[in-house]
Amino acid sequence: MPDQHQPDERALSALAARLRTARAVTVLTGAGVSAASGVPTFRGADGLWRNFSASDLATPEAFERDPHLVWEWYAWRRALMAACQPNAAHQVLASWTQRHERWRVITQNVDDLHLRAGTRDLVRLHGSIWKLRCWRDCGCAPWRDERASLPEVPPRCPQCGGLARPGVVWFGEALDPDDVAAAHRLTDCDVFVMAGTSAVVYPAAGFLHQAHSRGAFTVEMNVEATDATRVVDMAIHGPVEQTLAELDTRL
Ligand code: OAD
Repeated sequence: MPDQHQPDERALSALAARLRTARAVTVLTGAGVSAASGVPTFRGADGLWRNFSASDLATPEAFERDPHLVWEWYAWRRALMAACQPNAAHQVLASWTQRHERWRVITQNVDDLHLRAGTRDLVRLHGSIWKLRCWRDCGCAPWRDERASLPEVPPRCPQCGGLARPGVVWFGEALDPDDVAAAHRLTDCDVFVMAGTSAVVYPAAGFLHQAHSRGAFTVEMNVEATDATRVVDMAIHGPVEQTLAELDTRL
């Protein structure tokens, strides 16, 4: 009986062989990649959406209704993330992007841990929790605020004094078309990996299908089966930080 927590040796070796000859590799990451750093996932075991309602906290309507409640939730997550460090998954992926021109990462994560690990040319589909924007869009540029504890909740726009909002993409909002276009370009690759994502939120989940139809070898790395499992060419089940670290030693 295979150990559910150990990545499959044969799959790792086969994937390593493929990666050694691959020119373009794209890894799409989700909350599971940051789980070992202590950042809660949304739908995994103890995921945020098991205890909180997305429609109360992560939509423009929720913010319109109760900006204080939404900001309390974001302030709590910012404080939690500020104490987290990149883990082996972030580090391996960062080193891949530094070593190979066409090995790239697309992330749905808003925590900045890929950047802190040194990932080059990261495509961020859902924004950054450390970025703020004017809610009324007074014309000022988005700004960064990396303080673990915000002095004022909700924070204010430095230009017009109105409410600021988190610089993340909420449900019901469009993604930045430049980011979507960049991610679409990266689906033209030899190997496409879905790492630590439940693969249910679009358009991110759709990039797997694009990569597959463009001829990529597709891989899932997750602690459990997802909707992507029956679509991919290879599924490696186990903690992604362990899978990537073990894979890296075989390259
Ligand atoms: P989810 O929470 O939906 O999925 C995280 C996945 O990671 C789950 O399938 C877990 O099984 C898996 N997982 C947990 N720990 C892992 C580990 N150590 N190694 C491997 N896998 C692990 O997070 P996302 O797929 O990122 O969007 O969610 C996508 C989007 O939905 C998020 O960006 C967010 C959320 O609602 C918005 O807020 C707009």
